[in-house]
Amino acid sequence: MTGFDSMPSAWNGLLALFQISSATALEHRIADIFRPLGSPAESERAIAYLTFAITGAIFIVVGGLIVYTIARFRRRSNDHSQQEPAQVYGSNQIEVAWTVIPILIVFVLIGVSGRVIASLQNASPPKKTVKVRIVGHQWWWEVHYPDYGIVTANEIHIPASMPGQPAAAYLTLESQDVIHSFWLPQLSGKTDLIPNRANYMWIDAKEPGIYLGNCAEYCGTQHANMLLRVVADTPEDWSKWTASQQRAAVGSEGSQEAVLKPVATTSEQSPRATFESLSCVSCHMVKGTAALGKFGPDLTHLMSRKTIGAGVLDNNHRNLRDWINDPHDAKPGCLMPNMKLTPKELDSVVAYLETLK
Ligand code: CUA
Repeated sequence: MTGFDSMPSAWNGLLALFQISSATALEHRIADIFRPLGSPAESERAIAYLTFAITGAIFIVVGGLIVYTIARFRRRSNDHSQQEPAQVYGSNQIEVAWTVIPILIVFVLIGVSGRVIASLQNASPPKKTVKVRIVGHQWWWEVHYPDYGIVTANEIHIPASMPGQPAAAYLTLESQDVIHSFWLPQLSGKTDLIPNRANYMWIDAKEPGIYLGNCAEYCGTQHANMLLRVVADTPEDWSKWTASQQRAAVGSEGSQEAVLKPVATTSEQSPRATFESLSCVSCHMVKGTAALGKFGPDLTHLMSRKTIGAGVLDNNHRNLRDWINDPHDAKPGCLMPNMKLTPKELDSVVAYLETLK
């Protein structure tokens, strides 16, 4: 499937039109389907080139005929006849040609795509395959690792496929609300996340690093800001990441008391007590604390993530404070309400969240 690898680089300039650019300034790859770094994306690139070649040829033939006709049959200044050109009706040859040729083209594309789809679905997975369950929400991604007991959001860590140590991630894709679509251009084509149904796909990242993606199915106001980041870790980083995610949240000590006792409402509350006294906890989970909500992203290890708001803002002190102060500033229409916190409450909540390493 690599016969088109040697396409001239002029194509790359033209085809750069199909790239996604990222809103954040963090180090990342350009999300470009023509620079695949995963097995599914590599096979799919060949189909993309074939499709571009066929549609490009059609464009040149049709466009060329139009230009030729306009030039050849234009009205000339020395032509004073008022006659219409000869009108031709019902050429069997022409009608057969423009019926049969498109049908053949469609069948060629169906055949080639079907072969690639089958080969991807039947591929035997590498020994090291991590299961990840991803649930689409308006407008963020819930991420579960059932074999590790890890829950996170928006940033999906997978082990990178290293020479001699192939690794992959097997994804189960679901939706909590409307149809979303999971798309990581450099790793694989799109797969929809559909309510009341599970879809499956697999990805393998051939280089460690960050791969960008996006929701690719219009799902409401903030569809364009439903960004995806896949972090492909080296084997050491993967072990470190899973170990740190499995640890209890920093600052969740004494959790039982916090759950059992009503939170004191003295003026000198700890940042954690302030957080637990606010309705943040009905939507967000911080494992081991009174925060047991499931509607919004799990915050247990919030500070291990590089971005907030599903990739719209870098995760730093100022952005985190601005985000909690008014999420609708960065992401108008998002489902996290403006909590109208006092500056003091805001400082406390930010201080607490910043302990969640
Ligand atoms: Cu989710 Cu578009």
